[in-house]
Amino acid sequence: MRKKIAAANWKMNLTWQQGNELVQALLGATPSIQDSHQVILSVPFPYLASVNSMVQSTSGYQVAAQNCHHLAAGAYTGEVSAIMLASLGIPYCLVGHSERREYNGETNAVLAEKLQRCSENSIRPIFCCGEPLTIRDQEQQNEYVARQLQESLFVLSKEQVGHAVVAYEPIWAIGTGRTASSAQAQAMHQHIRKVLADHYGQELAERIPILYGGSVKASNADELFGCPDVDGALVGGASLVASEFTAIVRSLCKS
Ligand code: PGA
Repeated sequence: MRKKIAAANWKMNLTWQQGNELVQALLGATPSIQDSHQVILSVPFPYLASVNSMVQSTSGYQVAAQNCHHLAAGAYTGEVSAIMLASLGIPYCLVGHSERREYNGETNAVLAEKLQRCSENSIRPIFCCGEPLTIRDQEQQNEYVARQLQESLFVLSKEQVGHAVVAYEPIWAIGTGRTASSAQAQAMHQHIRKVLADHYGQELAERIPILYGGSVKASNADELFGCPDVDGALVGGASLVASEFTAIVRSLCKS
C-alpha cells in the first residue's frame, strides 16, 4: 500500500524562531504517526539540518528541501546541490514547484536533470505538476500534465520512480483560496496514475503516492482525502499555522 502523506511547504516564510516554534507545536500536537502515514516538512535551506534533527526522534516525520540544483557541483554561487542535501541526511526534495517553474524558468528538461540528481543521491523527489488556468479553460489539462510527467519524471527508471512522490498542484488553486473540487482532484489523480501505469506498469503506479496541492486547509482536507486516488496533500499557506496543519495531519491519519 502507498503511504498517505501530509507535506508542508513553508516556501520563503518564517524566521528561524517562528519555524522552530511551529515544529515544536506540531510535534507536541501530533506526536505519533502510524507507519502507513507520513508528515514531511519542506523548509528553507538554512533550517534543514536543525529541523531534520528535531524530527529524528518522532516516527513518521521527515524533512524536505524545496529545491536543488540540476548539476552535481561547481562554480554556481548561491546554489545547493543534491549531494549537499544527501550529506546532511535530507530524505526528500521538492522538484518542479510551479513557483520555481514560473520565477526561475525551470523547464521540463531542467527538472528531468534535477530528478536524476536526487535519485543518484538517494533523495526521494516530490515531483510537482499542474496546469495554469488558461489550459484548464481550454480543457487541455490532461495532455498538459501528461507532458510534464513524460518530459521530466519519465527520466527515472522503474526502480527510481518507486521512491518518488507526485504532487498535483493546479496553478489556479495555489495561494488563491480556490481549491479544485474533490471531483476535479480525483479525475486528475486518476489520470496521472493511468499515465504512470502506461509507462511503468499498473503495479508500480499503484505504489506511487499522488498528493493534491492548492489551497488545502483544515476545512477541505477531509473531503479531498476521501478521494481514492488522493494520497495526501502538499500544503502551503495553511502549513504555517500550527492549528491548521495539525488538523490537516489529523484528517490524514483518519483517512
Ligand atoms: P497553498 O500552496 O496551499 O498556499 O495554495 C500550495 C503549494 O504551493 O504547495
